[in-house]
Amino acid sequence: MGHEITKKVTVVGAGKYGSTAVQRLAGWDIADEVVMVDIVEGLPQGLALDMNQSRPIEGYRTRVIGTNDYDATAGSDVAIITAGLPRKPGMSRMDLLAVNTRIVKQVTEQLVERSPDMTIIVVTNPLDQMTLLTADVSGLPRNKVMGQAGILDSSRFAHFIADRLDVDVLSVRALTLGSHGETMVPVPSQCFVGDTPLSELLAPDEIDALVERTRGGGAEIVGLLKTGSAYYAPSSAAAVMARAILTGEPYNAPVCAWLSGQYGISGVYLGVLARLGAGGVEEVIELPLTDTERRDLHGAAEAVRAKVAELAELVVD
Ligand code: APR
Repeated sequence: MGHEITKKVTVVGAGKYGSTAVQRLAGWDIADEVVMVDIVEGLPQGLALDMNQSRPIEGYRTRVIGTNDYDATAGSDVAIITAGLPRKPGMSRMDLLAVNTRIVKQVTEQLVERSPDMTIIVVTNPLDQMTLLTADVSGLPRNKVMGQAGILDSSRFAHFIADRLDVDVLSVRALTLGSHGETMVPVPSQCFVGDTPLSELLAPDEIDALVERTRGGGAEIVGLLKTGSAYYAPSSAAAVMARAILTGEPYNAPVCAWLSGQYGISGVYLGVLARLGAGGVEEVIELPLTDTERRDLHGAAEAVRAKVAELAELVVD
């Protein structure tokens, strides 16, 4: 018995990150279809077949479509772009930027041609550049393109806080803003265990140590795995963003969003707290930051601007 498709998500890239995000989204049973696209023939098809066979066991209906053809993505409400190459030995940062710029540009064109009203969540690194590139290439309103970084970093921070204090991980609220990596801006003034501010539970140098571990959170996992990078927590982060957009249930979370005057910053994609919903980023929520946190956020904005300027130096067809 066929029925009209009303909710559809596309995930581009059937690597570890993409396929795990697909599995999470399908398991929540909030979409009719989750389409998984990759350039490798057979990979998305095989993974989709495997995932679909888990439905009777797990008890959900969402069907995963694995494909190499973008036509299957037509009419998607939201897409997550994970397609890209990891940095290989001997590859400079600019080499990686050139390769992933080419991939993300092509992917975005294919997606928007078939789903002109979609919202796009960018995951491919380097994130700050890839998010702006996607916004520019897609022609979508800025609020309908965003990047994933802050949910993951905040979640890692919360995990480290809970471990350090030996408290229930779900009693911890932690927040990081800014960009992914070096200019991540932890916001201790907005971190709580239950109702108690983090600053009343840990000394500044102890908080700094947890912040440093959070900043290097991705690298720590790469070091242990030897090949490949983290994908369980990263895919959770991207999937909850897609869920908020798909279901329209408002969800406040730190994401890489376009700023137009908030915190006195304009014209840059930066990690800030935002309300996500059916319209994408529905509002950037300005928090009462301390002077230090605000200064660090401005520093992160300048760092992103400098990185984005590198994009203009690339000639990509
Ligand atoms: N179109 C579709 N898929 C592509 C394309 C393309 N043009 N180019 C590459 N891919 C696919 C690859 O075939 C691969 O299956 O993207 C997938 C990437 O998967 P992995 O290498 O396993 O990487 P993953 O760990 O999933 O990370 C994906 O997330 O954190 C970021 O920087 C990281 O860019 C990386 C992305």
